[in-house]
Amino acid sequence: MDRKEFLSSMGLGAASLAVMSCFGCGKGSNATNSSTSAPTGVDFTLDLTASANAALTSNGGYLISHGILVARTSSGAYIAVQESCTHENYPLVYQGGSKRFYCNNHGATFTEKGAVTGGPTSRSLAVYNTTLAGTSLRIYS
Ligand code: FES
Repeated sequence: MDRKEFLSSMGLGAASLAVMSCFGCGKGSNATNSSTSAPTGVDFTLDLTASANAALTSNGGYLISHGILVARTSSGAYIAVQESCTHENYPLVYQGGSKRFYCNNHGATFTEKGAVTGGPTSRSLAVYNTTLAGTSLRIYS
C-alpha cells in the first residue's frame, strides 16, 4: 500500500492533508507580537483623564497603545518604547520598581532608556519622545 492508498483508506485526501498541515499556521498572524520591527512615524496623544489611560496616572503604571509601551516611572516621568522585545517580538512589561522593561518569554531586560541589560538579544529598544501638556500626553518619533 503506497501513501496515496493509505490516505484514501483513512478517508483523507491531499486537500485534508493540506488543512491538517496548516494547523497552527494562524498563530503567528493572530499574535499581538507579529510585528517584526519598531513602529515608525509615531505621533499620537493620550488623554490622561480617560479611564482607558488610568494606568498612566500612577507612578510605575504602563499601557500599550499603537504598538508602543508607554510608562510612568517611579519618579513620575513618562517614557515610551516599542512594545515588542527585540529578540522575538514578545510583548514587554514595565517593572517600575526595578526601573526596567522585561520580556517574560526568554528573560531579556532593558533599561528605561531601552538599552539591553540581559537576555538573548543585543538590540536596544526603539525609544519615543513624550511631551505632557496639561492632561494630554503626546508620544512621537
Ligand atoms: S522574545 Fe524576548 S527574550 Fe526572547
